[in-house]
Amino acid sequence: MIFMILILLGPPGSGKGTQASLLSEKYGIPSISTGDILRQSIESQEKLGLKAKKYMDEGALVPNELVIEIVKSRLVKPDCKRGFILDGFPRTVTQAEALDSLLDNPLPPFTKRDSLDYSLSAVVNIDVKDEVVIERLSGRRTCRTCSQIYHIVSLPPKTVGICNNCGGTLYQRDDDKPEAIKKRMEVYTIQTTPLIRYYQEKRKLISINGDREIKEIHEDIIKSLNLVENER
Ligand code: AP5
Repeated sequence: MIFMILILLGPPGSGKGTQASLLSEKYGIPSISTGDILRQSIESQEKLGLKAKKYMDEGALVPNELVIEIVKSRLVKPDCKRGFILDGFPRTVTQAEALDSLLDNPLPPFTKRDSLDYSLSAVVNIDVKDEVVIERLSGRRTCRTCSQIYHIVSLPPKTVGICNNCGGTLYQRDDDKPEAIKKRMEVYTIQTTPLIRYYQEKRKLISINGDREIKEIHEDIIKSLNLVENER
């Protein structure tokens, strides 16, 4: 039985969500996006969403303790029993350390006594240039109901404004406006790029050129993960 814990790392718009969804389908494990969870929580006007909204709108990171709690409560759900894919978490060294400790001491119902190897399989770092990021984010459309991601040029829906999967309405994210994009890219460089070294030192990092066709990137990730699995 495959058991896999993956992290997808990369700048805003590098394609983490797109690849996470393909990997989730391929391996039958859930893709967990802290960004999606926060946006859903804003949409349903929960306390968490109200706290997070001002940070997200301006492109800043939501405080570590809020996001760590989100991840803790998500990882204990039954669908994580064969592993999971983290899209957009961790984003700071503090979050990465919190995840390490969670993987060392899993919360019930998952315990180290399970025959499963409850440890990080790999961190996939999707590398793209700044110009590509801006073009991708300004054309992105997201389904309000199921969070499926589209692009008006590279991945348009069959019917304009409507999700192929669930028929939900597509919208443009508030943080995909030029000012917020600029800020998110700065925040990524300062607060998240130290994680590249963090996971390199743990020998978990796989770097993938993200400036290619979606399918080609997906196949490259699978190939690299097969190599990692064979070495385990
Ligand atoms: P989050 O939702 O995680 O945003 P992000 O990391 O900025 O990443 P994006 O979702 O913008 O991009 P992506 O890499 O997933 O690219 P996508 O696949 O969509 O976070 C949003 C906010 O929430 C943060 O700013 C922060 O405030 C808060 N937050 C979330 N997690 C947090 C945490 N851990 N700590 C603190 N705060 C947190 O692709 C982009 C577009 O490109 C799409 O249109 C897609 O169709 C297209 N595309 C993808 N791949 C290709 C390709 N190969 N070729 C052409 N087009 C492509």
